[in-house]
Amino acid sequence: MISEKDFIFSPNALDKKEGSYTWSAPSNIALVKYWGKKENQIPANPSISFTLNTCKTITKLDFIRKESQDSFSFDLLFEGQPKEDFKPKIQKFLERIENYCPYLKNYHLKIDTKNTFPHSSGIASSASGMAALAMNIMSLEKDLNPHMTENYFYQKASFLARLGSGSACRSVKGNIVVWGKHEEIVGSSDLFGVAFSNDIHPIFTNYQDTILLVDKGEKQVSSTVGHDLMNQHPFAERRFLQAHHNLSAIKSVLEQGDINRFIEIVESEALTLHAMMMTSLPYFILMKPNTLEIINKIWKFRNEMKIPVCFTLDAGANVHVLCPENVLVETLQFIKNELVGYCQNGQYICDQIGFGSQKL
Ligand code: DP6
Repeated sequence: MISEKDFIFSPNALDKKEGSYTWSAPSNIALVKYWGKKENQIPANPSISFTLNTCKTITKLDFIRKESQDSFSFDLLFEGQPKEDFKPKIQKFLERIENYCPYLKNYHLKIDTKNTFPHSSGIASSASGMAALAMNIMSLEKDLNPHMTENYFYQKASFLARLGSGSACRSVKGNIVVWGKHEEIVGSSDLFGVAFSNDIHPIFTNYQDTILLVDKGEKQVSSTVGHDLMNQHPFAERRFLQAHHNLSAIKSVLEQGDINRFIEIVESEALTLHAMMMTSLPYFILMKPNTLEIINKIWKFRNEMKIPVCFTLDAGANVHVLCPENVLVETLQFIKNELVGYCQNGQYICDQIGFGSQKL
């Protein structure tokens, strides 16, 4: 079994004075949700997600060797401009991964990052952002240690991304990714995401995700606080067990193509996530009235038209509308006719399953 020790950098490495890399990493949308964690970013239950394609972060890392090695030194830019308010998060991330990447203190880093989706759209950029940064760090590590295998490269990238933001470990590689130990998924681990390697039924290849931007405001509660509230939560143990069962169920659904069961699991997971928020102490509601309007419209459309469209939610008010590619035209027409009115400024983003991070 792979353990944390396997990701500690071997000091016997080459020297590299300066350089630069650029990686893109996508966002992802969980089907079975991660909500609740233990020490060191270990998930309380396993989760599975579709990797997205269009919603991405693109990060360029420049590095140059420096004299003193006693602290991290970095500049952080967002769309080319210094962004001081992102720095504490990155500082914390570097501290968390220091043990595994001690070479980072030998360099001054310049991290320049941008997203393909609108800033503060309510789409979390922490998953794609942390994944893109982790990929760049692994490119540096590979230059210092060229013998590493490709498998190790991606596994450690996901391991590092997880330490930045849990869901980020699912944005590294693969179109469907499992994170968290699950007895029926071979190779699954709490430490990093693994690509779902079972045969996937054709109905799920190229699955579509249209993200309806219902509320672009700042979240009232951060994911980190939300996760913590699962520690004292009265329903936590049952919820974690349910996630294991739902992952078993969705595994066969993805192999066999039972779309009705898929819809049932995915919508139930979305509502359970929000039910956990509503029943924690303190309790909170992240859905907006328009979120509920959209959900009801989707149910009505699905019943009347017999088109297998469903929704999922992340920790916010936006709605992800999921459908197979062969009903995309009808689904987009439905969105334009009936749902855009519930979106802030009529905004939505058309996305679909993608394959993970890319070196540019
Ligand atoms: C609701 O990965 O953002 O999107 O590990 O604290 O950074 P941290 O949390 P984060 O939580 C994501 C929660 C979720 C569900 C999911 O993506 O599985």
